[in-house]
Amino acid sequence: MSDQPLMTARGVTKIYGERIGCEAVDLDIHPGEIVAIVGESGSGKTTLLNCLSARLAPSAGSIDYRMRDGRLQDLYAMGEAERRFLMRTDWGFVHQNPADGLRMGVSAGANVGERLMAVGERHYGRIRDTALDWLERVEISTDRIDDRPNAFSGGMRQRLQIARNLVTGPRLVFMDEPTGGLDVSVQARLLDLLRGLVGELGLAAIVVTHDLAVARLLSQRIMVMKDGRVIEHGLTDRVLDDPREPYTQLLVSSILQV
Ligand SMILES: Nc1ncnc2c1ncn2[C@@H]1O[C@H](COP(=O)(O)OP(=O)(O)OP(=O)(O)O)[C@@H](O)[C@H]1O
Ligand SMILES: [Mg+2]
Repeated sequence: MSDQPLMTARGVTKIYGERIGCEAVDLDIHPGEIVAIVGESGSGKTTLLNCLSARLAPSAGSIDYRMRDGRLQDLYAMGEAERRFLMRTDWGFVHQNPADGLRMGVSAGANVGERLMAVGERHYGRIRDTALDWLERVEISTDRIDDRPNAFSGGMRQRLQIARNLVTGPRLVFMDEPTGGLDVSVQARLLDLLRGLVGELGLAAIVVTHDLAVARLLSQRIMVMKDGRVIEHGLTDRVLDDPREPYTQLLVSSILQV
């Protein structure tokens, strides 16, 4: 793990009218590191993730990202075109609902190929071969390449969304409840797959989940949110085995009782 952070966020705050989305959040993420954001419903997880991924301008605070050339860039100071380019190439975003991250009207192959074309690949044969390879990597039978995601199960759609996001070799992937809508057995398999891919590709990821088991399996570090603030932050095993804050203790014990 490099000692230079990939992303540095300071004092990230998002206010919606009278309501606080998230407040004064600091975060450093290093290349190859997986950070989980946990907390109850409404604690500000999605708001924070959207701010960090340049999808929602914070009301205050700064977020710097280390570009591939090593320059540190303020996300919200860069131009729209540069930000879009970053989102298409260097980043991935996995939505809870795959329909939000896929084009449902075009084939599985096109869903993967489109992202490659966005980074300049033009050779049809190579695009198709890469798409086939990625379908295989996410355990979708290659004879489904011409099917539309409409014809896929929920778990298959989620795996296709992951392939579409990872095909360009991003350095940082944002995930909002990536296993949220799936049934338990499908979740376990998907988590295994995600863990394998993330490790193999050396990706950094920020994963929002309300499921502490997901955080335990995927992340090295964890941030616990409550009412928009980060109330506890540390190594995942430490926080889950020996939570310091009463709220985290409650969160951990309520999960253990399930
Ligand atoms: N567009 C919006 N307009 C006004 N308030 C919002 C908006 N989006 C979120 N909020 C408020 O911000 C707070 C944090 O919401 P957020 O969606 O970030 O929570 P969350 O932790 O992702 O919850 P969940 O686990 O239910 O997805 C909540 O009080 C919510 O009502
Ligand atoms: Mg949310």
